[in-house]
Amino acid sequence: MAKKTAAEKAAKTKKSTKKPSNILVTGGAGFIGSNLVLTLQAQHPEAGITVIDDFRSGDFKNLIGFKGDVVAKDVSRMDFSSQFGKRRFDAIFHLASITDTTLHDQKQQVHDNVEGFRNVLEFARPAKTPIVYASSAATYGIVSGVNTESDPPLPANVYAFSKVVLDNLARMYAARSRAWKIVGVRYFNVYGPREAHKGIPASMIWHLSQQIKAGKNPRIFKRGEQLRDFIYVKDAVKNTILALGAPSSGVYNTGSGQARTFNDLIEILNRTLGTKRATEYFDNPHKHYQNHTEADLARSRKELGYEPDYSLEKGVEDYMNWLKSQER
Ligand SMILES: NC(=O)c1ccc[n+]([C@@H]2O[C@H](COP(=O)([O-])OP(=O)(O)OC[C@H]3O[C@@H](n4cnc5c(N)ncnc54)[C@H](O)[C@@H]3O)[C@@H](O)[C@H]2O)c1
Repeated sequence: MAKKTAAEKAAKTKKSTKKPSNILVTGGAGFIGSNLVLTLQAQHPEAGITVIDDFRSGDFKNLIGFKGDVVAKDVSRMDFSSQFGKRRFDAIFHLASITDTTLHDQKQQVHDNVEGFRNVLEFARPAKTPIVYASSAATYGIVSGVNTESDPPLPANVYAFSKVVLDNLARMYAARSRAWKIVGVRYFNVYGPREAHKGIPASMIWHLSQQIKAGKNPRIFKRGEQLRDFIYVKDAVKNTILALGAPSSGVYNTGSGQARTFNDLIEILNRTLGTKRATEYFDNPHKHYQNHTEADLARSRKELGYEPDYSLEKGVEDYMNWLKSQER
């Protein structure tokens, strides 16, 4: 008999994953979390979905149309047992996190991000509830080039450090039980609907589109040739859901697999918005700056069957159409 290809094995794993009927999403009022919640609701209309979010950066407007339950608590301080009693979930997506990378309060970043994850792990441990959690490409640090999951972590700020600790914890808990799946999705630069609430930490695509729409020239660091792996939120959500069917615990790059320049991005925005705004370049104040991020997608493709649906051109077009629909 012919050997099964990796893609066939991935498809089999996905098929054998039982449909979740009780789903917990932390950080569900945030950017990626709300897109995930609304997609899960559309894919599993019969499922009960519970969101935990303390709204420190999230916004209720992101959850308009959501039919499930919302617990407004801090995951790093809440008591999961008294909140949920004996109730168990079929799957947990853990996205709650401080996401402002410029917040340099080391104790707060590490406490809230790490203890939040530890609480989720402890809650999930008895039933070995599968967990998909948000890791970050920031764990790779400012090393330029293609980033592979096996690269050593080199966090350049405390936010990235907290995400490295999440990856460490996931590995430690998973090592205790092979039957328990704890899977990290390492997001690159995510952009798309429902990110406006983030303010400064929102994507460059959001900020540049707002500058152009306000009749201003888009402003970027000299000379706009720095490369980024921009991933549309619909693809980020797609790989987050696929991660539930991972063959075992591990971390998966979640990017577009394409590195594009900021100059490319402005050209695409001008074309999509029907404008011709000239780019204003200014000196980069950062001494250490990431010049190139790019996700190696080999593991996600092979083990999860992931293939991005959105090029930068297609994602920007979809996003700008969505923003226009919101203006009505
Ligand atoms: N957006 C990106 O480009 C990107 C890149 C890499 C990693 N990530 C990760 O993806 C996840 C989602 O990020 P996002 O872009 O949607 O950001 P976001 O700020 O919109 O979402 C985070 C959500 O978590 C909530 N939250 C924060 N701390 C909490 C706590 N202790 N208890 C309860 N709720 C809490 C916030 O209120 C918010 O709704 C985060 O874990 C983030 O670190 C995002």
